Amino acid sequence: MSNCSMVYSNFLKNYKNFFSSHLKRLYNSEKYQNVAHTERGNVMPKVILHVDGTVVEQQVKDNANLVVLAGIRQFPQLKYGCGMGRCTKCTCRVIRGGESIAPPNWKEIKMLGDKVEEGYRLTCQLTIAQDIEISQENISIQPPKKQSATQV
Ligand code: FES
Repeated sequence: MSNCSMVYSNFLKNYKNFFSSHLKRLYNSEKYQNVAHTERGNVMPKVILHVDGTVVEQQVKDNANLVVLAGIRQFPQLKYGCGMGRCTKCTCRVIRGGESIAPPNWKEIKMLGDKVEEGYRLTCQLTIAQDIEISQENISIQPPKKQSATQV
């Protein structure tokens, strides 16, 4: 091996070692281990979901809808049905972070009634912008029965 190629080979080896150790340090830093960021530089909200005896914790995109994420297999554990606020299969109870989501809309009030006051929400109607913890454990809320015109 010529002198020149040995110098070049050593340079590449040192460069590779420096680069990989720099990347490892960067990856292991608190910034990259604990917090993921959106393209806009905002912190991605963390969702903690209690479902079927398990706890699922994932970071989601800013203003994400969990039913949409479940539909594209990013949140496969989530229970849901229609995705339109009609079936109540996605009902959850907000454990933490409820102040960060919009107040219940008319569909949630219609389908959940007084349960809304107890922190129950329709997951398909939520837009997640901050950390939130929700549970779908032991929830059996049925949609209200439709009244026929003769029953009124
Ligand atoms: S998925 Fe049907 S009400 Fe939310």
